[in-house]
Amino acid sequence: MGHSKLSYLATILFTGYAGANLAYKSRPDLAAPVLNITIPATNETADGLIFYTPESIYADNTGHGPAQSGPYIFTDKGDLVWTGFGYVGPRSENFLVQNYRGQQVLTIFEGSHNSPMGHGHGHTSIFDNKYRLLKQIKGGGHKLADQHEFLIFDNHSAVFTVYDPEIADLSAYGAKSDSQQWILDNKIQKVDTDTNRVLWEWSSLEHVDPAGTNLTLQSGNAGTDVERNQYLLSARSMCTIFKMDGDTGKIIWQLGGPNSNFSLGDGVEFCWQHDTRMHQKYLQHETKGSKEIISFFDNSAHENLAGGPDLKARAYSAGKVVELDTENWTSKLLAEFRAPGDLSVRSQGNLQLLPNGNAFINWGYDGAMSEHTPDGSTIFFSGMDSGKLGPGSENYRAFKFDWHGQPYEEPALVAFKESNGTALYISWNGDTESKVWKFFGEDAKGQKMLLGQAKRTGFETGFRTSHKPIRVVAEAFDVRGHRLVSSSVVKTRDYKLRLEYS
Ligand SMILES: *[C@@H]1O[C@H](CO)[C@@H](O)[C@H](O)[C@H]1NC(C)=O
Ligand SMILES: *[C@@H]1O[C@H](CO)[C@@H](O)[C@H](O)[C@H]1NC(C)=O
Ligand SMILES: *[C@@H]1O[C@H](CO)[C@@H](O)[C@H](O)[C@H]1NC(C)=O
Ligand SMILES: *[C@@H]1O[C@H](CO)[C@@H](O)[C@H](O)[C@H]1NC(C)=O
Ligand SMILES: *[C@@H]1O[C@H](CO)[C@@H](O)[C@H](O)[C@H]1NC(C)=O
Ligand SMILES: *[C@@H]1O[C@H](CO)[C@@H](O)[C@H](O)[C@H]1NC(C)=O
Ligand SMILES: *[C@@H]1O[C@H](CO)[C@@H](O)[C@H](O)[C@H]1NC(C)=O
Repeated sequence: MGHSKLSYLATILFTGYAGANLAYKSRPDLAAPVLNITIPATNETADGLIFYTPESIYADNTGHGPAQSGPYIFTDKGDLVWTGFGYVGPRSENFLVQNYRGQQVLTIFEGSHNSPMGHGHGHTSIFDNKYRLLKQIKGGGHKLADQHEFLIFDNHSAVFTVYDPEIADLSAYGAKSDSQQWILDNKIQKVDTDTNRVLWEWSSLEHVDPAGTNLTLQSGNAGTDVERNQYLLSARSMCTIFKMDGDTGKIIWQLGGPNSNFSLGDGVEFCWQHDTRMHQKYLQHETKGSKEIISFFDNSAHENLAGGPDLKARAYSAGKVVELDTENWTSKLLAEFRAPGDLSVRSQGNLQLLPNGNAFINWGYDGAMSEHTPDGSTIFFSGMDSGKLGPGSENYRAFKFDWHGQPYEEPALVAFKESNGTALYISWNGDTESKVWKFFGEDAKGQKMLLGQAKRTGFETGFRTSHKPIRVVAEAFDVRGHRLVSSSVVKTRDYKLRLEYS
């Protein structure tokens, strides 16, 4: 059978199949997104892998955006490391590496998204470094957890956001009496990770006057971020960042908005922001005395819920690091990170300050990711999706973390008969440790032999041999030559057999 006929068949069979991209011969069921890297990582980018959760911007998920939404780990060279498609979701967000009881774990929100209101309903799943589910943390007291934040506080509790609808008289804000009698109370819960019991809860409506909003009635939307026992709250609809005392629940200060306690230095001004964080140190600056350091992603844009172009406070979005002074109540911009071409993103986005001083940014609604040196230079830039998968991917948050994964599941091996030998392909979803694959064959008489070895390349490693074994098996070895895993024994087969997957 000629190649053109085969590929024609493949096209027909895979057209209706969620856009399978056939990138991996050992995993034809995968159609992972492709990074469109336009500024390749330089020698100045931080070590670590990229964690993100691409989603379609279209609610019905048809024809646009990633074919397989889910949590993904990639290298900054664009190689897939782990796809969580089918493990988590279908919708997942806020994919982080955290420490829990002495080990590195993955925490991933999974649930559904209330699109117009911009909040989620679900739970956070915790996986170990073999990608096995350890725990699912849910909201307590008949409340559903939201996706915007999830932090393991210590080894026994986790803090996350909850959006709790409350009946309220909104006539003062122009509501009609027969409708619009609900307001979302953005709460924070701390729960016990063993019992899911609520240990502490904070209600924004008890401490923040919703009259300060910069959006009209139907467009409520806020984010919350948490660290230590003082909490930074990003109230995006109020263009305000609050610091709150975790013991009393009271607001300590507010930055931005109509009642800012601080004067805003050059370039500090922000609106519709996300992801505000406290920092002990940034470059030579330190949080001490009357000085505090925070960072956030300043969208300065919001979807226009009445239709029409986005609302904009400024032409572009940016990551910002700001120093605050609580003696003279001033604020100063320490660093600003902008995308090449100055992207403006109406929703989502985050800024992560990396251990080496660089900044990693996810451009939310646009789906792009970038890394910057402290002077703002862009040393990595990637669009989320490319080729036939087309535009239409968004991403709530992305991070760079040092991560070591050794999957519990076995590797996927496939071997195809060729006229002059055999072609083998192996992948091990989530593996960060293997450096070399060794391949063994068995002939019709049951004779076993080493076929050879190949250096691990990206998600899938290919290997060709002039031998024609009837069965094959592969073994992975780490950098010190220790054997990590063995695949199952698989039969060699005709190349066309992979079309059976359609
Ligand atoms: C990165 O490469 C450039 C040019 O190739 C070189 O000048 C610079 O010293 C290198 N930086 C690091 C951190 O290795
Ligand atoms: C959590 O437990 C680990 C190991 O048991 C310990 O090293 C770590 O200090 C603990 N962390 C906290 C915040 O208590
Ligand atoms: C901050 O501003 C608010 C509103 O104007 C005011 O009530 C509060 O006392 C101020 N806080 C401080 C620490 O000055
Ligand atoms: C937000 O609302 C305040 C108070 O009404 C107003 O001064 C400010 O210009 C608004 N900001 C934006 C970006 O619309
Ligand atoms: C606050 O302002 C006063 C008067 O200008 C100045 O002496 C003092 O150093 C300032 N404090 C800080 C922390 O910058
Ligand atoms: C990659 O991104 C660039 C810049 O946005 C764009 O021009 C190009 O079409 C993209 N490539 C693909 C394959 O999508
Ligand atoms: C078999 O032929 C193909 C195509 O010419 C070639 O790419 C491959 O390397 C050959 N395999 C071996 C084991 O020589």
